[in-house]
Amino acid sequence: MAQPEGTFVILGASGDLTYRLLMPAIYRLYAAGHWSWQVVGYAPDAWDSPRFRDHVKEGLMAFVPEFEDSVWNRFQELVVFQSGELDKGGCEGLAEIVGDKPAVFYLALPPTLFGQAAQSLGQANLAQPVTERRLVVEKPFGHDEASAAMLRNTLHQYWQESQIYRIDHFLGKETAQNLLVFRLTNRFLASIWDREHIRSVQITYAETLGLEGRWRYYEQAGALRDMLQNHLMQLFTLVAMDPPAVWAADTLHNHKTEVLRAVRPIPPDAVDQYASRGQYRQGIVGTAAVPAYRDEPHVAPDSRIETFAALKLWVDNWRWHGVPFYLRSGKRLSQDYAEVAIELKEVPRGLFGAGLANWLVFRMKPDERIDMVVWAKEPGLTLATRRRILSTPYRREDEVEYSAYEQLLLAVLQGDRTPFPRYDEVEEAWRIVDPVLTAWQTGDPEGYAAGSEGPTGQARIMEPHMAWRRIGESDETP
Ligand code: BG6
Repeated sequence: MAQPEGTFVILGASGDLTYRLLMPAIYRLYAAGHWSWQVVGYAPDAWDSPRFRDHVKEGLMAFVPEFEDSVWNRFQELVVFQSGELDKGGCEGLAEIVGDKPAVFYLALPPTLFGQAAQSLGQANLAQPVTERRLVVEKPFGHDEASAAMLRNTLHQYWQESQIYRIDHFLGKETAQNLLVFRLTNRFLASIWDREHIRSVQITYAETLGLEGRWRYYEQAGALRDMLQNHLMQLFTLVAMDPPAVWAADTLHNHKTEVLRAVRPIPPDAVDQYASRGQYRQGIVGTAAVPAYRDEPHVAPDSRIETFAALKLWVDNWRWHGVPFYLRSGKRLSQDYAEVAIELKEVPRGLFGAGLANWLVFRMKPDERIDMVVWAKEPGLTLATRRRILSTPYRREDEVEYSAYEQLLLAVLQGDRTPFPRYDEVEEAWRIVDPVLTAWQTGDPEGYAAGSEGPTGQARIMEPHMAWRRIGESDETP
């Protein structure tokens, strides 16, 4: 076998993220001919390489339907394990394995250990040379603006911003990537992508899932931190940013940051006009009866953590002044349904009826497709209109589907920073949500029945004569 080009070190290699997501993604990339780096699992467990490989193989057999022994037999030669602590000494052991090859260090660790790991790697001189060493971190990047800045400062002691790859897995999703491609490639959209033509934007990410045993994290986080500050804010940014002049990471990040900076600060005394929160009560999801959030194991019986959050953003720039952007996400809702929906203004004078708005909808779940809601004459003897959907699935059935992790891991290997938020984006996103987080430290979220469309209070943040789209808004019905 040819010498691997570089070394991909996973710190926290005995954990769940490695088992369920990272190794399956790496294996699939390898099987498709895109991966050639050595993989070093690093963890304090007293394992050796054969033990680690058994563990990895078990995960692959569980999570990769097309797993093949023949591929595994070749792939496993790339996989080794090193036992060690997250201290300077342990990382010096790693330095011997890495040698002078390019290396990526993936922190598959609890966030409390990010700082220590980044420092120990730096002390062992693993952050040098700058162009050949990369550090990958997963959210959460802090729990508010101040803690995000502290984490940034710690990482920056040994790592430059250009070496840090922050995973927001939504940026590896096809629909997120397509948002920009579709927007910036189709001439008919270029001239309408502004306040003159767009009336509102709604981004919905609805899940039927509940806590899934993640109470330790979720009780500290809630929906606003878990989904809106990062994933939905990134989708918003891709819709609202100005087109970059060139396809280059820093140019892209500059434009993303600029639009985030243009988001009007949410006044601390008017948070209720901008944000709505809810917490699920017991109910029926699909056909299953599920308990209330507060009755979930380990959740505080008086927890005020929100399992649903909605936010209205105003962008005070020339392109978007006066156009509301609505973002919402929740657990235990009626359906697994996600979309980015752009509402166009009506024509100036509707000869054939009122209230006939066009929508351009990028659907993410249950399937990825692009829908355009248009109005056409109803066949028959009158000029009555009816709603039609021009709809195209995003992918053909015979096309390979790459997971968000596959997309992002490959980008890390290639040193492509475009799909990774730069620190100033993260900072601005915290700046936007911080007043809401502060307001939500008191009071209680509104209850909503599990299996419903969320709290009724979400309607409160809507501008007059606007309404949330239904979750799972079906195709041809008005
Ligand atoms: C994660 C959140 O980042 O994204 C989860 O922590 C959420 O709470 C998940 O369920 C949703 O993403 P996906 O890709 O699994 O739909």
